[in-house]
Amino acid sequence: MAKTAVVTGATGFLGRQVLQVFSSAGWKAIGTGYSRANPPTLHKIDLSDADAVRSLLDEIKYDTLFHEHCNSHQLTTRWGAANRFPDKCDQDPDGARRINVEATQHLAQACNTHSALLIYISTDYVFPGRPGEAPYEVEADPEPTNLYGQTKRDGERAILEITQDTALGVILRVPVLYGKANQPSESAVNILLDAVWKAQENGAQVKMDHYAQRYPTNTEDVAHVCLDVAIKYLDAKDERQSLPKLLQFSSEDRHTKYEICKLLADIMGLPLAGMIAIGADPNASVQRPYDTHLSTKALQDVGISVRTQDFEAWWRREVKAYRK
Ligand SMILES: NC(=O)c1ccc[n+]([C@@H]2O[C@H](COP(=O)([O-])OP(=O)(O)OC[C@H]3O[C@@H](n4cnc5c(N)ncnc54)[C@H](OP(=O)(O)O)[C@@H]3O)[C@@H](O)[C@H]2O)c1
Repeated sequence: MAKTAVVTGATGFLGRQVLQVFSSAGWKAIGTGYSRANPPTLHKIDLSDADAVRSLLDEIKYDTLFHEHCNSHQLTTRWGAANRFPDKCDQDPDGARRINVEATQHLAQACNTHSALLIYISTDYVFPGRPGEAPYEVEADPEPTNLYGQTKRDGERAILEITQDTALGVILRVPVLYGKANQPSESAVNILLDAVWKAQENGAQVKMDHYAQRYPTNTEDVAHVCLDVAIKYLDAKDERQSLPKLLQFSSEDRHTKYEICKLLADIMGLPLAGMIAIGADPNASVQRPYDTHLSTKALQDVGISVRTQDFEAWWRREVKAYRK
């Protein structure tokens, strides 16, 4: 009997890939979205509405209660639905807290009730990224420097606390993501394609960050890790308490945003004279995170592959430029 995964944020950049990878692996994958959800394919639900979440998850549980797999064969994933953009968080702190923290608490409580595993996608922005500190191990103390990182850290804490006795909560931190997108603006990496085109305009002087070190990681790779984690933790059953509750996944492809633009421009055969590389601001009182590189040791220790696709090769295929 197929296992069931509920994927929140399934209309989003990462959630779409997760839904697809679980479906391809033979799971019954049920997605939820909000403004972009198109029922009945995807459930439309406001995750900050605790009653609506409870009744949907109660309903899904009854739809997919396969007792022969024991009651842990339902998986609720809290991949996508989060207020991801740091700036958006700052504009609406209450909204960010409702969706990144309170909704997460409701989901953790629902998973305890339904004996379902909760996998929560978090971010490298829980770390300050001061020069010389990376790579961060899972044990490192989170010390977020912006509201987005703070609300994600608070979401992590809520999960760890609520699922402490049941061992049904797992956190997977990931860095900036790239991959298949409906439009480049869905990803802080894909959108650099637009910046490269903007730099082609007459007299362009597009400023681009050449300070922060980034480790762009493909959404398809993250989705496969999610699947591996789900299988590993569901299979562990009674031994689950001994598995780590915090995991981190990242590629080792290291670039500044300016370097990514350079690479994309090279692939497309475009010049980049219209782009200006911006380094550290010597006058800034609070420096932006320099390097929040995530160590993948905890994932490797539990035997999960951390292989990633090659960044440049993926983009060469994506822009159909196979020749160097
Ligand atoms: N993208 C990155 O570079 C990155 C990096 C590190 C960590 N992450 C983490 O990865 C996860 C996914 O990010 P993403 O880039 O895929 O995000 P995204 O594309 O912005 O998608 C967010 C999802 O959340 C849903 N959502 C937003 N508000 C909701 C609400 N009130 N109720 C129900 N659903 C709601 C959206 O639904 P609608 O669109 O239908 O409204 C959408 O499906 C997040 O947890 C994020 O913190 C992302």
